[in-house]
Amino acid sequence: MIYLLSGAPGAGKGTQSDMLVEHLGFRKMSTGDALRDCAKEATELGARVAAIMNKGEFVADDLLFDIVAAGLDKFAREHGNGGNSGDAPLKVVLDGYPRNINQAEALSSLSDKYPVMRYVLLQIDHEHSISRAVGRVICGACRAIYHRDTNPPQQENRCDGCGGQLVQRGDDVRASLEKRLTIYKRETEPLIAYYRERDKLAEVNADRSVEQVFADIKELVLQDA
Ligand code: AP5
Ligand code: MG
Repeated sequence: MIYLLSGAPGAGKGTQSDMLVEHLGFRKMSTGDALRDCAKEATELGARVAAIMNKGEFVADDLLFDIVAAGLDKFAREHGNGGNSGDAPLKVVLDGYPRNINQAEALSSLSDKYPVMRYVLLQIDHEHSISRAVGRVICGACRAIYHRDTNPPQQENRCDGCGGQLVQRGDDVRASLEKRLTIYKRETEPLIAYYRERDKLAEVNADRSVEQVFADIKELVLQDA
C-alpha cells in the first residue's frame, strides 16, 4: 500500500517520509533524491536533469514513471511475493510523486499491484516554505535533512548520524524556489481535487513542529491498518 506525501517545496515531505521509515517500517522513494542521483552522473541525461532541476522545472513524466515503477518493483521483490505476502504488507511512501494529473493517472495504472491509500497534503504558508528551503542543508552521504536555524547539526557542517559533510541543494535559491512554487500551484494543486474525488485526500497542517505533524500522519496510518 502506498502513501503519497505532497506539499509545496519545504513543506516537510522528506522529513516526514524519513519519520515514516524510522517509526512505522515504511520504504521510501523520493523522486527528488532519485533525480539528484541521476544529475550527479557524468552523462548527457545527468546534465539535462541537473539543468532542469536547478531552474526549478519539472523533469519529464515518462522518466519519472520509469523511476517510480522500477523502484516499486524493487521494493516488492525485496519484500517477497509481489509485496503482498507475509505478516506485514509492504508500505511505501512516495515523496514528491505524482506532481501532476498525468503522473497520477500513470500511477493509477499500477493500482492492481500498488494501490494508493492516501494522498497526504502537507499544508504550509508559502513564505514559510521559502524560509525552510533556503535554510536547509542535507548530508551529502546519507541525505539526512537539517535546517540551519530550526534543526541545526550538533557540529557545524557535519551530519549527526554518519559524520558526512552537509551541503546546500543547487535548487535552494530564491529564484528557483519561486519557480517551484509557481509550478506547484499550477501543476500539483489540481491533485487536491483529483484525490478528494477519489476519497484519498488527507490534509495536515505542516506549519507546526516536526513531531506534531508526524503525530497526525501516524494517526492516519494507524487508522488505515
Ligand atoms: P524535491 O526534492 O522533491 O523538492 P521539492 O518538492 O521542492 O520539496 P523539497 O525537497 O524542497 O521540500 P520537502 O517538502 O521535502 O521539505 P524537507 O522535509 O526537506 O524535487 C526537486 C526537483 O526534482 C523538482 O523541482 C523537480 O525538478 C524534480 N522532481 C522531483 N519530483 C518530480 C516529479 N514527480 N515530476 C517532475 N519533476 C520532479 O524540509 C525543508 C526544510 O524545513 C528542512 O530544512 C527541514 O529541516 C525543515 N523542516 C521540515 N519540517 C519542519 C517543521 N515541521 N518545522 C520546522 N522546520 C521543518
Ligand atoms: Mg524533499
